[in-house]
Amino acid sequence: MRWMADRVGPSGQVCAVDLSTKFLSAQLPPHVEIRQADIRTVPLSADSFDLVHARYVLIHLPDYEVALSAMLAALKPGGWLVLEEPDFSASRGIAGDAAQLASVRKINQAIQFMYETRGMDYALGLKLLPLLQARGLHDLAMEFDAPWSSGGSGMARVMAMSAEQLRDKYLATGLVTESDVEGYCRFAQDPQSQAVYYATVAVMGRKRSE
Ligand SMILES: C[S@@+](CC[C@H](N)C(=O)[O-])C[C@H]1O[C@@H](n2cnc3c(N)ncnc32)[C@H](O)[C@@H]1O
Repeated sequence: MRWMADRVGPSGQVCAVDLSTKFLSAQLPPHVEIRQADIRTVPLSADSFDLVHARYVLIHLPDYEVALSAMLAALKPGGWLVLEEPDFSASRGIAGDAAQLASVRKINQAIQFMYETRGMDYALGLKLLPLLQARGLHDLAMEFDAPWSSGGSGMARVMAMSAEQLRDKYLATGLVTESDVEGYCRFAQDPQSQAVYYATVAVMGRKRSE
């Protein structure tokens, strides 16, 4: 937000929309307008923004196409849409104890199942480019970032904590056992293990001028 505000300068305008604005700093400059609203329904002037950016938002929405339509309607012809969303289909254990790797596979299946039962797309990231193609955007570009993490690293520890917290939900899928949750956590703590836990896909493209 601050980066965008600096980039457009005081003569420009930034409009930030989120259902929850509690993490936004009160220190933002006056040319940043904060709107606590749903991106799918918030009234925004049509064809008025030079750039629309969303990061890790569409992944939460079963009807992300509605949000995409709203963002495109707000964009000026020739303006840039920039989206960054995760793709959890990249998630896998790469190296480590065979039994623990099997637990990692099963936990990933449980996570996928949980996304699907909520109507959310676990693998949205890599669908962004064809989505923008289908909407007629041009000058498309894409980046794919899938960092790998060693057991015991910050990311692996966060994933183990998350598995502990979500244990009951994972078990409720019927796809994993207590021993899989334990195996997943041991894997995440083992310095010999390596995994990709998620990928982030960034795409950008321009709305056609009439
Ligand atoms: C994982 S956070 C990402 C936050 C921020 N974009 C970032 O990259 O750090 C997801 C955000 O999407 C917001 N969100 C989810 N559904 C939304 C909707 N329909 N309209 C607006 N914001 C939404 C949530 O309130 C939350 O702040």
